[in-house]
Amino acid sequence: MSQAKAKQISKETHEKLKKVGEFLKTSPLLKDQQSQLMGALHYVQTLFGYLPQEAMEYISEKLSIPTAHIYGMATFYNYFSLQPKARYQIYLCKGTACYVAGGARIQERLREELKIGLGENTPDGMFGLNITRCLGCCGLSPVMQVNEDIYVRMVPEKIPAILEKYRRQDKKNAKVKEAGIGAFEHPGK
Ligand code: FES
Repeated sequence: MSQAKAKQISKETHEKLKKVGEFLKTSPLLKDQQSQLMGALHYVQTLFGYLPQEAMEYISEKLSIPTAHIYGMATFYNYFSLQPKARYQIYLCKGTACYVAGGARIQERLREELKIGLGENTPDGMFGLNITRCLGCCGLSPVMQVNEDIYVRMVPEKIPAILEKYRRQDKKNAKVKEAGIGAFEHPGK
């Protein structure tokens, strides 16, 4: 990475990229270029929580692999994410039972409340809106998931209260983090 470029990235990113460099030098599992790339992308995803542009460029330079190839691999596998994941990931079931039971109205209300589209995060990084395959509880449709919590027999009117619960929890978590105590609480139901 050029010096000018290195200056533009944050100190934290710079430190993390150094770790990626160490990983590339020392990992015993990486026999060929392709497995090196895969291993490096996994490492970056774990380290950053997503694959930032800077990291893909760094790997491209270190492994002499075109960024287009790296980008192709990063977008092919669902495991990798090109943007930071929201703290609360909302998944709407796109299965037939949920659709028939009014899934589209749930999606519409969420888009209205959060002012984002599918595949996007709110600007504060709190909520992400996604669709998912059948969640396996079709008899209780429409179904929505927020992180590990499942909400069944959803109606649009329930959405503001559900979102509010996570907003409150997020504030609480931020305070705990600030105070540097304990693990984050899970909001539960
Ligand atoms: S179709 Fe939604 S849970 Fe099965």
